[in-house]
Amino acid sequence: MKSRWLLASIGMLILLLLIAVSRTSFRKGVSIERAEHLNSPSQIARCRECHAAQTDSFLQVAHAQTLRLADRSSEFARFTGQTARIGQPAVEFRYWERGGRLWCGGGRAKSSAAVDWIFGSGHHGQTAVTVRTNNRGETLALEHHVTWYVAHGFDRTIGRPLDLGRDCDEVGELNDPETTRRCFGCHTTVLPADGLRLDLEKVVPGVLCARCHSGADQHAQRMKSDSTAAEFDNWRKLSPIESVARCGECHRLPTSFGPKELTPQNQTLPRFAPVGLMMSKCFQLQHTQPQSAETIRLDCVTCHDPHRPTKADPNHYNRSCRQCHRGDATSPVHCRRQPLESNCISCHMPKVSVNAPVMFTDHWIRSP
Ligand code: HEC
Ligand code: HEC
Ligand code: HEC
Ligand code: HEC
Ligand code: HEC
Ligand code: HEC
Ligand code: HEC
Repeated sequence: MKSRWLLASIGMLILLLLIAVSRTSFRKGVSIERAEHLNSPSQIARCRECHAAQTDSFLQVAHAQTLRLADRSSEFARFTGQTARIGQPAVEFRYWERGGRLWCGGGRAKSSAAVDWIFGSGHHGQTAVTVRTNNRGETLALEHHVTWYVAHGFDRTIGRPLDLGRDCDEVGELNDPETTRRCFGCHTTVLPADGLRLDLEKVVPGVLCARCHSGADQHAQRMKSDSTAAEFDNWRKLSPIESVARCGECHRLPTSFGPKELTPQNQTLPRFAPVGLMMSKCFQLQHTQPQSAETIRLDCVTCHDPHRPTKADPNHYNRSCRQCHRGDATSPVHCRRQPLESNCISCHMPKVSVNAPVMFTDHWIRSP
C-alpha cells in the first residue's frame, strides 16, 4: 500500500516537473545579442543617406515605436512598480522588475508571468504581452488585462469586459495562434513564420519603411550601384480608394463590418479611421469636384504624412477642408453654421470616447 502511494507521488512529481520545464523552455524570449538586430534605427539608416526628408523624424512616429522587446528597463518603465485594480468585481494586477525583466502578477489565481513584448508606442497606450507556445509549437500571445493609457494611467485593456470571468485567473487573455499571428502582423515590418509558429527571434518590429514600400530593400541596393531611378511601388499612382485600402489593411476597412454595423451610431467605428472616412460624402463624392491645380484628393495622406509625427495643430487639418469647401459657387455645400475661418474639425471630426479609457477622432465627416 505504502509503495503504491510512493510510486504515485513520484509519478506526480515527475509530471509537475515536466510541465514546469516545458513551460520555461517553450517560452519564446529573445536573447539580448539578437535584440540589437531588432532596433528600428539600423533598419532606417539604409534609407537615410538618400531620403533625409522622410527619415529625419521617423523614429518619433508612432508606427516606428509600436512594438518593442521588453528586454530593458527603459522599454517598460511605465509598468514597473504599478498596481492596477480593474473590473467588477475588482481584480488586482501588479508589475515589478526582477533580473532585468518585467513581471506581472495577480488575477484570482495570483499567477505571474514575465513580459516579452510591449505593444503600443505610448502615444495612446501600451499593453504588455507574454508569449507562450502550444504543444504543436504554435505561438500564443497572452495579452495582459491591464493597459497603460496616456490620458490617465492604468485601466482595463480596450475591448475587455467589465467582469473578466474565468479569464481573470491569468494575468491576461490567451489569444489563439491565428489571432496571435495577426496581432504581431499589424505591428511588425517582417514577421518570419512557419505556419503559425512565429520566429520572434527574426521579427522586425514596428511599421517601418519597407512595410509600406514593398521592394524597398532591393530598391536601396539597386540605387547604390546604379543611380538611374527606377520607379517602384509609388503610392501617388494609387486611386484614393486603393490608397486608403492599403492603410486600412491594418486600420480596418468598411468590409470588416456588416451593413447594419456601418452607422454613425456605432460607438466602435471611430477606432477604425478608414471606415469612417470611406463612409463620408467628402470621400465618396470627391470626384464631383471640378479638377484644377488647387483641388486636392482626399485619402489618409491628405492629412497625415506617414513620415512625420501626427500634427496637433487643428489648422493643419482645417486647411484641407477649406481646399474643397472654399465657400464659392464651384465648391461643394457650405457650412450654414460657421464661417470659413472656424475650427471645422472641432464639430465635424470630434474626439469621441470608444471604450472609457481612450479617445479616438471620428473620421466620419458629416453634419453633427
Ligand atoms: C542610394 C540612394 C537611395 C537609397 C539608399 C534609397 N533610395 Fe529610394 N529613391 C532614390 C532615388 C534617386 C529615387 C527617385 C527620386 C525620388 O523620388 O527621390 C527614389 C525613390 C524612392 C521612392 C519613391 C517611389 C517612386 O516610384 O518614385 C520611395 C518610396 C523610396 N525611394 C523609398 C526608399 C526606401 C524605403 C529606402 C530604404 C530601404 C530607399 N528608398 C533607399 C534613391 C535611394
Ligand atoms: C502594418 C500595419 C499598418 C499600416 C499598413 C498602417 N498603419 Fe497606421 N498604425 C498602425 C499601428 C499598429 C498604429 C499604432 C501605433 C501606436 O502604437 O501608437 C498606427 C497608428 C497610426 C496613426 C496614429 C499616430 C499617432 O501619432 O498616434 C496614424 C495617423 C496612422 N497610423 C496613419 C496611417 C496611414 C496614413 C497609413 C497608410 C499610409 C497607415 N497608418 C498604415 C499600423 C499600420
Ligand atoms: C488588423 C491589424 C491589427 C491587429 C490584428 C492588432 N492591432 Fe493593435 N493596433 C492596430 C492599429 C491600426 C492601431 C492604431 C489604432 C488603434 O488604436 O486602434 C493599433 C493600436 C494598438 C495599441 C496602442 C494602444 C491603442 O489602443 O491605440 C496596442 C497596445 C495594440 N494595438 C496592441 C495589440 C495587440 C496586443 C494585438 C493582438 C492581440 C493587436 N494590437 C492586434 C492594428 C492591429
Ligand atoms: C505607413 C506607411 C509608410 C511608411 C511606414 C513609410 N512611408 Fe514613405 N510613403 C508613404 C506614402 C503613403 C507615400 C506617398 C506620399 C504622398 O503621396 O504624398 C510615401 C512616399 C515616400 C517617398 C516618395 C516621396 C515623394 O515625394 O514622392 C519616399 C522617398 C518615401 N516615402 C520613403 C520612405 C522612407 C525612407 C520610410 C522610412 C523611414 C518611409 N517612406 C516610411 C507611406 C509610408
Ligand atoms: C481630413 C483630415 C483627416 C484625414 C483625411 C484622416 N485623418 Fe486621421 N486624424 C485627423 C485628425 C484631426 C486627428 C487627430 C489628431 C490629433 O489631435 O492628435 C487624426 C488622428 C488619427 C489617428 C490617431 C487616433 C485618433 O483617432 O485620434 C489615427 C490612427 C488616424 N488618424 C488614422 C487615419 C487613417 C488611417 C486615415 C485614412 C483612412 C486618416 N486618419 C485620415 C484627421 C484626418
Ligand atoms: C476632396 C474634397 C473635400 C475635402 C478635402 C473635404 N470635403 Fe467635405 N465634402 C466634399 C464633397 C464633394 C461633399 C458632398 C457635397 C454634396 O453632398 O454634394 C462634402 C460634404 C461634406 C459635409 C456634408 C456631409 C453630409 O453627410 O451631409 C460636411 C459636413 C463636410 N463635407 C465637411 C468637411 C470637413 C469638416 C472637411 C475637413 C475635415 C471636409 N469636408 C473636407 C468634399 C470635400
Ligand atoms: C461650431 C460647430 C461647427 C463648426 C466649427 C463648423 N461647422 Fe459645419 N456644420 C455644423 C452644423 C451643426 C451643421 C449642420 C447644419 C444644418 O444642417 O443646418 C454643419 C453643416 C456643414 C456642412 C453641410 C451643409 C449642408 O448643407 O449639408 C458642411 C459642408 C460643413 N458644415 C462644413 C464645415 C466646414 C468646412 C467648416 C470649417 C470651415 C465647418 N463646417 C465648421 C457645425 C459646425
